[in-house]
Formats: sequence, structure tokens, C-alpha cells
Amino acid sequence: MPSFTPDSQLDLLFSPELIPASVKAELGSDLHMRPLAKTDITRSHLSVLSVLTTTPDLTVAQYEQAFNALRACPNTYFTLVIVNRGTDQIVGVGSVFIEQKFTRGLGKVGHIEDIAVDKSMQGRKLGLRVIQALSAISENTGCYKTILNCSDKNIPFYQKCGFEKKENEMARYH
Ligand code: ACO
Repeated sequence: MPSFTPDSQLDLLFSPELIPASVKAELGSDLHMRPLAKTDITRSHLSVLSVLTTTPDLTVAQYEQAFNALRACPNTYFTLVIVNRGTDQIVGVGSVFIEQKFTRGLGKVGHIEDIAVDKSMQGRKLGLRVIQALSAISENTGCYKTILNCSDKNIPFYQKCGFEKKENEMARYH
């Protein structure tokens, strides 16, 4: 079984210091929260995302290209993961990306996307911790609000995370 890889040995998407220590402290001692790493395709990242939507396999080169594209936009993309220290595999993920506006005196908005917790770990408050960390990153980056879209069945989860229902989502698929 692979041994736990500390942050210092990983190529990370953003500074781990942006993840609040208070949120990390609420995870069990068997778990660790950190920014996405360039090698996380080897730690079940795509398999965890597949509880959310269709997530076809990628080659390592494709994965690294996407990672590099995110990292090339400083202070914009924040994807974090929860890793099981025993297996070095990912059990929870989530992202927030920061939108720069021209309204509200150059206001910024945080958009939460792609929250997923491995089936075997659901109900252990990992989803809540991911949302708490992403909301803190959004607020600390200067966003005046953090928003997301979700299905009706996930509304109670996001309400428990402190969100309220606002307006409607419109979509056009291509
Ligand atoms: N209905 C009612 N309450 C819920 C639900 C639900 N569907 N899901 C969680 N809760 C409650 C929990 O009971 C808990 O309440 P408590 O504090 O009273 O005990 C609270 O919300 C926090 O729950 P967590 O344990 O943190 O939830 P979990 O770790 O299981 O993660 C998640 C929730 C992310 C929705 C998970 O079930 C999952 O991965 N689902 C499949 C993928 C998905 O739907 N992701 C969200 C898509 S929306 C988006 O990405 C913006």
C-alpha cells in the first residue's frame, strides 16, 4: 500500500497555508486536507469525482496539462482534496474559482464546483469541511459572496453548510 506523501514532497496547485488550520483540525487524525497535487491522478482523484458525474479516464499527460492550465492563472483556481493518510488515496474533493467583476467596485465572486466525497466516507462531515475550507479561501481572497449550483436533493446539505437558496439556475448544453 502506498505510504502517505507529505505536502513538502508534492507539486501543489496553491499554497497549503490558504487552507484554514481550524478546518483541518476538525478532520479525523486519519485524514489530511491539502491543495490538489500534479500527481493526484494516481490517488483516485478521478474515481472520487465519478460519484458526481461521468469522469472518463485521462492519461497522465492530459491530467498534467489541465493541472498546469489551472496553475497558470494565479489566485483563480483552488481545488483541494482530503487524503486518507493510511492509503494515500483521495476521499473528498472540491473547487472554488474566483471571478473578477467590473461591478461592485471591482468585486470578486467565488464559484464552488465539483464537490464529491467517496461513497464509503459520506456522512463523516467531509463534504462540510470541504465547503468550509473553500468558503474561507473565497472570503480571504476578497470575494463578497460564494455561490454554487446544486440539485434539489443536495439543498439540505448546502443549507447545513450555511448557504441559502437564491434565484434560479439556467443551462444550455453543447
Ligand atoms: N440530504 C439531507 N442532508 C444531507 C444530505 C442530503 N442529501 N447530504 C448531507 N446532509 C447533511 C448531513 O446529514 C450532515 O448533517 P448534520 O450536520 O446534521 O449531521 C451535513 O449535511 C453535512 O454532511 P456531510 O457528512 O459533510 O456530507 P458528505 O460528506 O456525505 O458530503 C456530498 C455531501 C458532497 C453531497 C456527498 O454526499 C457526495 O459526494 N454526493 C455525491 C456528489 C454530489 O452530489 N456532490 C455535490 C454536487 S453540487 C456541487 O458540486 C456544487
